[in-house]
Amino acid sequence: MDKIKNPFSPGAGSPPPELAGRDGILEQAHVLLGRVRQKRPEKSILLTGLRGVGKTVLLNEMERMAREDGYRTILIEAHEEKHLALLLIPQLRRLLFELDRIAGAGDKVRRGVAVLRSFIGAVKVTIGDIEYGLDIEPERGSADSGDLEIDLPNLFLAVAEAAEERQTSVAILIDEIQYLGARELSALIMAMHKMQQRQMPLVLIGAGLPILPGLAGESKSYAERLFSFPDIGPLSEAEANRAIQDPIEDAGERIDPAALREIFRLTQGYPYFLQEWGYQSWNHAVASPITLDVVRETTALVERRLDENFFRVRFNRLTPREKTYLRAMAELGKGPHRSADIADTMGAKITTLGPVRASLIKKGMIFSPAHGEMAFTVPLFDEFMRRAIPDFQSKGTNS
Ligand SMILES: Nc1ncnc2c1ncn2[C@@H]1O[C@H](COP(=O)(O)OP(=O)(O)OP(=O)(O)O)[C@@H](O)[C@H]1O
Ligand SMILES: [Mg+2]
Repeated sequence: MDKIKNPFSPGAGSPPPELAGRDGILEQAHVLLGRVRQKRPEKSILLTGLRGVGKTVLLNEMERMAREDGYRTILIEAHEEKHLALLLIPQLRRLLFELDRIAGAGDKVRRGVAVLRSFIGAVKVTIGDIEYGLDIEPERGSADSGDLEIDLPNLFLAVAEAAEERQTSVAILIDEIQYLGARELSALIMAMHKMQQRQMPLVLIGAGLPILPGLAGESKSYAERLFSFPDIGPLSEAEANRAIQDPIEDAGERIDPAALREIFRLTQGYPYFLQEWGYQSWNHAVASPITLDVVRETTALVERRLDENFFRVRFNRLTPREKTYLRAMAELGKGPHRSADIADTMGAKITTLGPVRASLIKKGMIFSPAHGEMAFTVPLFDEFMRRAIPDFQSKGTNS
């Protein structure tokens, strides 16, 4: 079939041809945006889910919805090595300049810029040199204590007041939130607490791995009252079928029901895998309809591509000890698994595994869905680990 017309879009954050199975969460975002704009209290949304389930796609879609609703938006991606303040400053600066261009009386926008200026001054002391020419005197005493937990709430307040004065609202969207440091996360939570108490028109929508609710809860016990953590999971069979079938039919082609069933069996409804199988099956098919045989013939190729890209990049970042730990998990199957069982499989004492577990959590490879349990953050990673290290010797010989 015509490769140029292939509708599927495997990739990080690439919008799928059919955003299947996400109406509920989009409706939740719609309500949140509507209520915050009217200064009614509503929990911020922090989307959580495994790798490749479509969090970034949803975040982009929610940013689009916010803009359509008249919001001014900021979208950033948190980073292990870059401080939250450094990500926010240039964006807030742009946003304040945008607000400045909206007609309206009052001096809250100017004040916002002055507060940002003093925030930058304080950050400069704690993080190092940054230069963002802001042609205004800093407002001494606002957001310049050098303590992010105090300064960030004050900065958000100044920005929200500026937006309110220009009769607009602000949406801050943050991807990969789990990479924020503990101080940054706690400052962010406190800032949102202040927004909710004062009923300011500033909303936060974030996305991250399933460790996020735990991190937020550890940081501030009231986090669960401020945020809702919708779980973005794999698609049901009906949704997955739509994600594959609708784009094919919209392009004037067809796919057999048996082929759809096979794709669902192989992908287990995980969005990224659906895009890969859809993409390769389309390219492999000589003509409509895409049959079961076509899907079967492409499977080896798709798995090879996934192994070489999606899985391998993560695998290559692991130390030998981390690989052994994950291989032991894989030996036990899909998971989640009890930490004690993993230790057993490795032939190691559970008490010695704390550091390797912690570094795997930090790298975003595993998370703890319940006390004493570990699970993979990457769908089907157990199968990959068994392919990558076929002859695992359990009971310690390999650890
Ligand atoms: N609802 C959906 N239906 C079909 N395909 C989808 C859906 N959501 C996302 N996808 C596809 O899944 C892939 C992964 O999406 P995305 O990058 O948003 O995932 P993610 O959860 O942000 O992953 P990561 O944790 O690795 O950042 C993309 O190719 C996208 O087109
Ligand atoms: Mg993403």
